[in-house]
Amino acid sequence: MSDLEGVKIFNNVCHQSTLGCLLRTAQDRSSWHYRFPMDAPFKDKHPKLDIIAEGTMMDHFLSGIAYSILIQVWELNGRKQFIPEIFYCGISIKDKHREDNVHVDDTHRNDTIKIMGILNEDWDPKTMGGGFMHGGVIHKLRPTDFCIFDPRTPHAADKILCDEKRFALDFSVQKLHEGEVIRRSMEDEE
Ligand SMILES: [Fe+2]
Repeated sequence: MSDLEGVKIFNNVCHQSTLGCLLRTAQDRSSWHYRFPMDAPFKDKHPKLDIIAEGTMMDHFLSGIAYSILIQVWELNGRKQFIPEIFYCGISIKDKHREDNVHVDDTHRNDTIKIMGILNEDWDPKTMGGGFMHGGVIHKLRPTDFCIFDPRTPHAADKILCDEKRFALDFSVQKLHEGEVIRRSMEDEE
């Protein structure tokens, strides 16, 4: 990938209570499904909740919260590399009973970037595992950390070591061309 080497991690992207609100609301939804990974036998699938799919809001309330988180990542990244136009957003649940599949996403297109963060407020990647493996490197994401990564590089959740379920929010968004930046303010356009 030319304009995003490896994984870029941002700390303190939002208040933990924003993630807690998203998590508690999502846990009560009846729209969780087991479609992913697509080609895997059922025993190797994991629960997923679609918030936005193919640019359409599947859950309006959760879309609003998710969008506010994405805006924070966008600003922390200097409005570079992507614009907050969401193609897909969802929440995954993974646990120690299932080894995550190493996979690539969005292989049919090259105009996307993915963003991911863990929602559990007490997730300690040092003792609980569940880091983010990307291109063979494991990144330990802490609560309120979010990472930007190339979805076409092989990635997976690292082994989970505890009995807790790991909730992760992920986005697929519109990638910007190298060097392209959305103007920071209306004043810049004067
Ligand atoms: Fe993925």
